[in-house]
Amino acid sequence: MGFGPCPAGASCMGLLCSPRPRPLQNLLLLLWTLLNCSLGGSAQGPGEWTPWGSWTRCSSSCGRGVSVRSRRCIRLPGEEPCSGDSHEYRLCQLPDCSPGAVPFRDLQCALYNGRPVLGTQETYQWVPFHGAPNQCDLNCLAEGQAFYHSFGRVLDGTPCSPGAQGLCVAGRCLSAGCDGVLGSGALEDRCGLCGGANDTCLLVQRVFRDAGAFAGYWNVTLIPAGARHIRVVQRSRNHLALMGGDGRYVLNGDWAVSPPGTYEAAGTHVVYTRAAGPEETLHAAGPTTQDLLLQVLLREPNPGVQFEFWLPRERYGPFQAQAQVLGWAPRQPQPREVDPQPPQLLEPPAARAPTRAPGPCPPCPDTRGRAHRLLHYCGSDFVFQARVLGTHRQAQETRYEVRILLIYKNRSPLRMREYVWAPGPCPCPPLAPHREYLLAVRRLISPDGTQDRLLLPHAGYARPWSPAEDSRARLAARRCPV
Ligand SMILES: *[C@@H]1O[C@H](CO)[C@@H](O)[C@H](O)[C@H]1NC(C)=O
Ligand SMILES: *[C@@H]1O[C@H](CO)[C@@H](O)[C@H](O)[C@H]1NC(C)=O
Repeated sequence: MGFGPCPAGASCMGLLCSPRPRPLQNLLLLLWTLLNCSLGGSAQGPGEWTPWGSWTRCSSSCGRGVSVRSRRCIRLPGEEPCSGDSHEYRLCQLPDCSPGAVPFRDLQCALYNGRPVLGTQETYQWVPFHGAPNQCDLNCLAEGQAFYHSFGRVLDGTPCSPGAQGLCVAGRCLSAGCDGVLGSGALEDRCGLCGGANDTCLLVQRVFRDAGAFAGYWNVTLIPAGARHIRVVQRSRNHLALMGGDGRYVLNGDWAVSPPGTYEAAGTHVVYTRAAGPEETLHAAGPTTQDLLLQVLLREPNPGVQFEFWLPRERYGPFQAQAQVLGWAPRQPQPREVDPQPPQLLEPPAARAPTRAPGPCPPCPDTRGRAHRLLHYCGSDFVFQARVLGTHRQAQETRYEVRILLIYKNRSPLRMREYVWAPGPCPCPPLAPHREYLLAVRRLISPDGTQDRLLLPHAGYARPWSPAEDSRARLAARRCPV
């Protein structure tokens, strides 16, 4: 065979195929590899897969079916089996079957028609039977008889039951993930990306509380084209109204109340419900192809219209700007809460000096490194680039006023200016005024709901912003566990 103790390409080198090479990890792997090779490969790992073969033709000749590809595990003596599947099944979709076509499962049952199959000379006509426990067995009912028989598994690609999404593969009912692979479990994220991590779009989530001074239509928000997962709810005798980009009402326009139901607008289905509660909701999956204007038709004081949708990252800035021009965004600058100013008399003037600390601060712990970044990126509610506008120190905490420049991650909407709080008068790491940082912060809501704050934890993630830091953050975004 000509295999030495360290065959090229098999157990040793195969390990270097990490998808994204990282220096430290590669060094460790190299050491590990060298060690193993010099010991003559006595510590045996698993074998190695051959590349995938090509996909087979679709199992069906019309409608849905499966196509399969396979690979083989190459093992040296003493090596363990490869981990993972040797076969992968993919959904294939051919043009729909003609209405009169015999369904695949019916065909498989019909193969036994007129044949003595049950050990007697008796023969039957067989049709599918769907009441048996395993729907991926070929369960066929003898026509005119009160029994069915299982002829083993159905062929791969047979629908699990009529009208169902799943297809039988090797006797199991599997449905396709958004990647088309059966049983992969891959899901579309909120941004419409298959297997994504919700990080290519941002969540807009607000409550419109303006209490109109007159009955009539009030603008609530623009819902820009490209929005997904739109949800609106209001609980009062008022009515939600929706206007298309062409200025025509989709529902509840012109002082006429529309019936609950599904409406077509901006390339999506808008589901409108109205309960006697009173409560009204709007839902749409999107993505929308045009701007929509959400309004409320006031008949009584507005208790609040809650709305949310997800916007592609690049549409968020223009939306924010437009909302401000139209005066729909909250007043700016508007920090997240009413500033709990202690009475003036109790505060010594020195402590109010905007940027000076009360005394020398001890050195901060080292917070650099990938593990630290990952921990804080993934564990935080918000990650953004921000410029520090001002600092206010008190005995128990430090408050930074920041201008948000770029949002990497948000669990709820951010304003253009926010207060970020850090524990103690000597926060770690300290933020200098007029500098830009990449910050990972948490949202902290007091139990009674009166305080809603952004918190930069001690020794958290706050790095001076740079293009390199930016790409590290983007990398971290893709590494968070789901
Ligand atoms: C994306 O966000 C939705 C809604 O917040 C959540 O249910 C889902 O788990 C998130 N997906 C990922 C991959 O984080
Ligand atoms: C609502 O917004 C639309 C579109 O921007 C605008 O034409 C209209 O004047 C606004 N109406 C009110 C009452 O502000």
